[in-house]
Amino acid sequence: MINKNFLWGTATASYQCEGGWNEGGRVPSLWDVYLHENNLENGNDASDHYHKYKEDIRLMKEGGHKAYRFSIAWPRIIINDKGEVNPEGVQFYHNIIDECLKNGIEPFVTLFHWDLPQYLEDKGGWAEREICDAYVEYAKVCFKEYGDKVTYWSTFNEPRYYVFSGYKIGNYPPGIDDTQKTIQASFYMMLANALTVGVFREMKMKGQIGIVHSYAPIFGVDDSLETKIAMRKADNYFNNWILDTAIKGEIPIDMLGMLNEKYDLSFMKEADFEAIKNNTVDFAGLNYYARALIKPYTGGESILRINNKGSEAKGSSKVVVKGWFEQVFDNPDSTYTEWDTEIYPQGLYHGIIRAYEKYKVPIFITENGVAFYEDVPNEKSVDDQGRIHFLNEHINAILNAIDDGAEVLGYFIWSTMDLYSWKNGHEKRYGLVGVDFENNFERKPKASYYWYKKVCESNGTAIERS
Ligand code: NOJ
Repeated sequence: MINKNFLWGTATASYQCEGGWNEGGRVPSLWDVYLHENNLENGNDASDHYHKYKEDIRLMKEGGHKAYRFSIAWPRIIINDKGEVNPEGVQFYHNIIDECLKNGIEPFVTLFHWDLPQYLEDKGGWAEREICDAYVEYAKVCFKEYGDKVTYWSTFNEPRYYVFSGYKIGNYPPGIDDTQKTIQASFYMMLANALTVGVFREMKMKGQIGIVHSYAPIFGVDDSLETKIAMRKADNYFNNWILDTAIKGEIPIDMLGMLNEKYDLSFMKEADFEAIKNNTVDFAGLNYYARALIKPYTGGESILRINNKGSEAKGSSKVVVKGWFEQVFDNPDSTYTEWDTEIYPQGLYHGIIRAYEKYKVPIFITENGVAFYEDVPNEKSVDDQGRIHFLNEHINAILNAIDDGAEVLGYFIWSTMDLYSWKNGHEKRYGLVGVDFENNFERKPKASYYWYKKVCESNGTAIERS
């Protein structure tokens, strides 16, 4: 049965919605510098949430939402490598949190959704051990400031996307292809997660702390042994190095063994493994967009081509991890979004059941949603029936998993309003509320916003079940 306090909400991230990139004492993040230097579409203004947060939170309230998942921008809070705190930045999130509480909305706070201060990137970013201390100090400031008001904390949003895109695929900053650094950054992020959970316990914070993962439940093309072995490697690659590490305190040992054959893992210290073992999270935040359909590796070099831009995207994805597995993107029985993401709600049902059986911690679906090209400027209210259908099918999958015993305590649609989708810019629209980026960022709730209001207010009974 669904919990009566189930958190129905929507989600955003600081860099993707705030704008005000050089206001209120904020210093540049690595995204600002990377996008400006390469002359790419940026989030300087994003959805102007920095100035319109009151309107956005009012819309959440009127839309029946119970919670708002957002992230704190580290470059607004700590403005140099001496750890100097920026009071104006601190105040901004007090304002957001207070506005939420005033409107009966539970703030669900992420500490890191990718906007690393550039002054830390200049020192080597996540690939260097020093970052862990800087992160812990930043987290402490947030706990101290907002701890009395916030119950739900997440340390990181999607370590896999951040690290693999930045250090291996190279399509996100710092934009390199270096497997040794990919491994280091992955490890230091998970270590920083554990150290921060430790501090959270030491400071006797009320509430709970979790991690948010880009969950790709693994499916195989057949039942053969080769496929099963490939699936295990894929599960390590996609999921286990984050979820096993954060929730069980164990980095998958078979994965470490494989990496150790080719790379230098001597930077991992005994005390680090101990910290990871002793400081595990309270809940799993799972972002679900699609499953990963896996077949055995057939040969050739590694290829990691996903999330490609606009018209080139459809049919262009390819993932081969040399010696490990290949991912199938052209399943004839599936439909795919304009950005080549498979639409597969059953994957969410199975993913939740598996995660709950394996980890036995409460689960929040911290992101789920679908992007379309939409003509917001020229429409009064976008009639996004496709999104409504997509969301209905996915919420139905969650409710089925709850009926079958999984403890799912909340659901957040990505995204609250249209926003800046990293390298896909603003044209990839996910919002329940449309944003007219050309006309003073005017908010225009879509049909899905009114539909979701009924879902929230009925605690899910408005969902068509199957
Ligand atoms: C995951 C990320 O958390 C978010 O930043 C991104 O925009 C969405 N997924 C959509 O791709």
